[in-house]
Amino acid sequence: MCGIVGYVGGRPALGIVLDGLRRLEYRGYDSAGVAVIGDGELRTLKKAGKLGNLEKALGETAAGDTEAIRTGATAIGHTRWATHGGPTDRNAHPHLSADGRVAVIHNGIIENFAKLRAEIEACGVEFASDTDTECVAHLLAAAWADLDGEPDPGRRLAAAMRRTASRLEGAFTLLAVSTDAPGAVVGARRNSPLVVGRGAGENYLASDVAAFIEHTRDAVELGQDQVVLITPEAIEITDFRGAEAAGKDFHIDWDASAAEKGGYDYFMLKEIAEQPQAMADTLRGRLGETGEILLDEVRLSDQDLRDVDKVFIVACGTAYHAGLVAKYAIEHWTRVPCEVELASEFRYRDPVLDRSTLVVAISQSGETMDTLMALRHAKEQKARVLAICNTNGSTIPRESDAVLYTHGGPEVAVASTKAFITQLVACYLVGLHLAQVRGIKYADEVAAVVHQLRATPAAVETVLDRMEPVRELARDLAASRTVLFIGRHVGYPVALEGALKLKELAYMHAEGFAAGELKHGPIALIDQGCPVVCIVPSPAGRGVLHDKIVSNIQEVRARGARTIVIAEEGDAAVERYADHLIRVPRTPTLLAPLVTAVPLQVLACEIAAARGHDVDQPRNLAKSVTVE
Ligand code: M6R
Repeated sequence: MCGIVGYVGGRPALGIVLDGLRRLEYRGYDSAGVAVIGDGELRTLKKAGKLGNLEKALGETAAGDTEAIRTGATAIGHTRWATHGGPTDRNAHPHLSADGRVAVIHNGIIENFAKLRAEIEACGVEFASDTDTECVAHLLAAAWADLDGEPDPGRRLAAAMRRTASRLEGAFTLLAVSTDAPGAVVGARRNSPLVVGRGAGENYLASDVAAFIEHTRDAVELGQDQVVLITPEAIEITDFRGAEAAGKDFHIDWDASAAEKGGYDYFMLKEIAEQPQAMADTLRGRLGETGEILLDEVRLSDQDLRDVDKVFIVACGTAYHAGLVAKYAIEHWTRVPCEVELASEFRYRDPVLDRSTLVVAISQSGETMDTLMALRHAKEQKARVLAICNTNGSTIPRESDAVLYTHGGPEVAVASTKAFITQLVACYLVGLHLAQVRGIKYADEVAAVVHQLRATPAAVETVLDRMEPVRELARDLAASRTVLFIGRHVGYPVALEGALKLKELAYMHAEGFAAGELKHGPIALIDQGCPVVCIVPSPAGRGVLHDKIVSNIQEVRARGARTIVIAEEGDAAVERYADHLIRVPRTPTLLAPLVTAVPLQVLACEIAAARGHDVDQPRNLAKSVTVE
């Protein structure tokens, strides 16, 4: 939620901050704004709607103002996903202190804002917005006035930020600039992402490295409850009490081109096409010399893993669907019971956890608040936590006992595609690792499955080469009211994922069902022409499973459904019941979601495009959901 960028250096800051916002717009796109310090003055401009509205307004601003904004070398910028206060010009960030000397941008929610606001209003300050963020601007200005013993203006602003941040409850990343400290940007973080980009004679702050990747690939990860001051020459980090703190340096292993559309109409299409590479990258280097699976950061001993008597997977949305698939593989390979929970529900139902429970937290962003809170609850109950994550240095892996990174590269489209596929790959690796450590599978058996996994990127490539008929079908289905998805076994989570993609992108009624459940109610939804997407398991797997779904296809067809059947090459039994047949290469049963999910991604993307929607930034959504 909300994208944040800050820059200080020797170059005009506005263009740098706007470019950064463009790369962060996936995080929220209700409104956008900038604050620039130029000619000793602080100028702000903010607009409801997408970044384009702000850019247009910048073009129309009075000439003098525009010049100051364009030449200033210190700036902050924000793209918003609204929480407190509607998505209007007035509520867009930055927010100013009453004297107009301090500007603040914020990601997160300040939970004690009502109390703070009442206190500030009691001092006679009038609020200019309905946001929780504005409190911070007023508190910062008051703290600045109090801290006149600090001669260095940047450090004084950092001290004011420490004092202010200590008073806040909830989750926040904050950036602030002040006319009184023109060569400085300060930031603070608690439960919300903020990284520093280290440049030469310039430095950056952002919610995500994508914002500054064009300028530097050297970054610094901040810890929890830290304040950072950047000037053109220095990066100073302290905790909220003022004690010096160290950030963790890291190098970003992808470049700016990875965060560009690269000739595709949408990021989503590019990311779908990148899946074979992302899968191969996630598999690369994972198999040790003696056939053991290598995790990235393991603070868990083999004995810890041998002691595991139950696995919980916690995740949200698409990552939850990856977890549902993982359950089949983990239970089959390890014989350890595995539950999959929506992270947002996990801690509220008081799950039974102890030292011998392994909690696997799956998250592309590593910042999803529901998943983070589930992880923290698990740790409080002494469970071991293993993260599967795509974002190096983000909060979820940092707080976990072990991490397996998916090497998917940046995923910009709000709809998760390559993140899902690489999460599946990582889940399989976790299942195999557990099976091997616990002595249920030998190294050569693990290596045999890894060998099958290594064949899946090529299988996905084949699926992608055959997508033209799916595109045509999508144009045909664009006017449908409802689309249903059915599957059995690992095909069931794929059906859920197919429906989620269609809902979030095409704003259509779509539902996924376990095919066997249809007859218990949902079959009543089917009327003449209703499209039903059927995910068919391999007949070479468990034959009975295949036969059962063929019967389910006949049942829906008999009630007028238009069947869109996804089945593997050579499966002749489905041909006569399929109005549309999408073939996928033969893949072992448990690994089949890696190939069957792909046509559903393309279908949803193309239906959304045919309906004229913004495929990469669907309404009401944000890529990284950092509120509960
Ligand atoms: O970053 P995460 O993987 O934790 O995000 C979880 C969900 O918000 C995410 O998968 C969401 O459901 C996708 N946008 C769906 O395409």
